[in-house]
Amino acid sequence: MTIALPIRPAADAPAYYSPSANECSLFERAWARRLPLLLKGPTGCGKTRFVSHMAAKLGLPLSTVSCHDDLAAADLTGRYLLMGGDTVWVDGPLTRAVREGGICYLDEIVEARKDVAVVLHPLTDDRRILPLERTGEQLAAPASFMLVVSYNPGYQNLLKSLKPSTRQRFVAIEFDFLPKSDEIAVVSAESGLADAQVAPLVELARRIRALKGHDLEEGASTRLLVYCASLIDAGVPVREAVLAAMIAPLTDEPDVKTALTELADSLIR
Ligand SMILES: Nc1ncnc2c1ncn2[C@@H]1O[C@H](COP(=O)(O)OP(=O)(O)O)[C@@H](O)[C@H]1O
Ligand SMILES: [Mg+2]
Repeated sequence: MTIALPIRPAADAPAYYSPSANECSLFERAWARRLPLLLKGPTGCGKTRFVSHMAAKLGLPLSTVSCHDDLAAADLTGRYLLMGGDTVWVDGPLTRAVREGGICYLDEIVEARKDVAVVLHPLTDDRRILPLERTGEQLAAPASFMLVVSYNPGYQNLLKSLKPSTRQRFVAIEFDFLPKSDEIAVVSAESGLADAQVAPLVELARRIRALKGHDLEEGASTRLLVYCASLIDAGVPVREAVLAAMIAPLTDEPDVKTALTELADSLIR
C-alpha cells in the first residue's frame, strides 16, 4: 500500500523569525559599526534562524560553517588543490565571505581547533584583515563583511570554553527560548499544526526544560517542538510523536525516559 503524504514545500523567502527582544536592531547596528557578534544560547533556540533572517534582511550573502573538533584554520581560509595537473588555490568559506563582503557564521565555535582563533583575531579587531599565509595575500575586509559566531554555554566544559582573549573581541547577544505564546506561534507557523494542538507540546517542553541539569544535559528545544508538531501534522499519533521527537532524542537513561513519558502523559491526552 502506498500512502500519499502532502509534502510541505521548503520556503526560500527570507526565513521567518520571531524576535525575542531588540536583537534585530542590535545586529543591524553592530553590522553598521563593523563589530563582530557572538550569539550565546542553548541548542535549537533560533540562533541559526536569526542569522539567516538578518542576512536576508540586510541583503548579504551568508556562509555558514558548523564547527567540529577537526575543523582547522585551513578549512576556513582555503587550500591549494590539485586540479587536472595544476595546483589551484580554492577559497574557504571565511575567505569567500571576506572577498564578497558577506556574513560568515561559525556555529559552535568552541568545537573548532585552536588555530582557528589565530585567523579570527586580526579580523575581529580594528585591522579587519585576513592574512592568507599560503598565497601571501592580506585581504582587507570590506565594510559590509561581518563575522558572527555562536556557542552553547550549556555544554561547556573546562577543555572547551571560549578563551577571554577571543570572547572579548565580540559583542554578545544572549538567547533563550521564546516566551510561551511566541513559541506556540513559531511552532505552529513552522509545522502547520493548529495553536490549540501545539500549546500542550510547548507546555511539556517548558516542564522538561525545568528539569535540565538534574538528569538532563539539555531540555527540549524549539527545534524538537517543530519536529514533533510536524510529525503530528503529518498524521503521526500524538503520543508516538512526543516519544519520538521530544523524549527519545533527550536521553538514553531508561529511568529518565520513564519519568519524561509520565510527565508527557499527564499533560497530553
Ligand atoms: N525565534 C524564532 N523564530 C522562528 N523560528 C524559530 C525561532 N526559534 C526557533 N525557531 C525554529 O526552531 C528551529 C531551530 O532553530 P535554530 O535556529 O536552528 O537553532 P540554533 O541555531 O539555536 O540551534 C528553526 O529551524 C525554526 O524552525
Ligand atoms: Mg544552530
